[in-house]
Amino acid sequence: MSRSFPVAWYPILESRALTGRPRAVRRCGQDLVLYRRRSDGAAVALRDRCPHRGVRLSRGRVDGDGLRCAYHGFLFEADGTCSDIPCDGPGAHISPKMCAPAHEVREQAGLIWLRHGPAARAPVDLAGLEDTGCGASGAMDWPFSLLRSVESNFDLHHAPHLHRGILPGAGPRMVQPHCEVHDGRIELTGRLEHADGRGMDVLVRHQFPSVTYFRLARSLSFTVFDAPIDDDNTWRLARYHQDFLPVPGLGHLLARLLVWFEWTVVQRRQDLPMVETMRPRRYTPGCDRLVRADVGVAQYRKLYRAAVSDEHAPPITLSSSRAAAETPDALQPGHAPSPL
Ligand code: FES
Ligand SMILES: [Fe+2]
Repeated sequence: MSRSFPVAWYPILESRALTGRPRAVRRCGQDLVLYRRRSDGAAVALRDRCPHRGVRLSRGRVDGDGLRCAYHGFLFEADGTCSDIPCDGPGAHISPKMCAPAHEVREQAGLIWLRHGPAARAPVDLAGLEDTGCGASGAMDWPFSLLRSVESNFDLHHAPHLHRGILPGAGPRMVQPHCEVHDGRIELTGRLEHADGRGMDVLVRHQFPSVTYFRLARSLSFTVFDAPIDDDNTWRLARYHQDFLPVPGLGHLLARLLVWFEWTVVQRRQDLPMVETMRPRRYTPGCDRLVRADVGVAQYRKLYRAAVSDEHAPPITLSSSRAAAETPDALQPGHAPSPL
């Protein structure tokens, strides 16, 4: 198991994206094949490598509750054991080494979750992290680590500059940024204010390490689900909900337009070209000078450091720390730079 990523359940794919055919995904540094058992439709994840000659099992086909390799037809069950080697004939002994390691996956809230390491038995509690209503979703890969990708969720004061005009209500000054951390949840509130007092209240609520809920205006919210593809790439899924137009059909169409606009214009044309210039590409100690408005970034880094630095330590148990949160560690006099 890679220690690059915190022990956790990671959202790796939307449930609706897994239909009757095997699907290859790379998550947490591993190539996986996902498919659904015929008997009950449950999602299965195996290593996407046939142990016979090393080709991708995702090229194969679902056969009963198993997956049959397309090269020589070996059949692998949902637990990864091989149950049929056609060239040896029925009843032939099959070595237990002829197996494709299975990974634990669960489905919750319309997502398939992958268990990475000895995480708790249940995936994430999403209470307070998602709205209902007219929604739509979209996914894209970000060419940055999980740490770099998720920490950007807490960076809101770039909006009135990089996304000038898109959120006219958001002013350049972050007034009273306030951050609470409790049981792996980070909650950041503040107000992006103009000089004349107009402004936008913002809320970011994060469940470590990979689910982030945003409320930027009374009628607009979205949740971003992040999962590491590998050390340098992250899969990101955004679900938008809007109440401007609470009408089924038209409301969902508006939500889909919001997703398209966010991914195509905001992320691809504005955020990504800017973030790609960020150096170093991997976070190194002391490379940034955070300010008060970056308090959420600082707290996420602290949780991440705790999660990956000690294999035996509970990864997400920093206690409520209002005082520390109000002053990013990079601002505290004489404070050694965070290793993450
Ligand atoms: S490589 Fe898969 S059955 Fe031979
Ligand atoms: Fe942005």
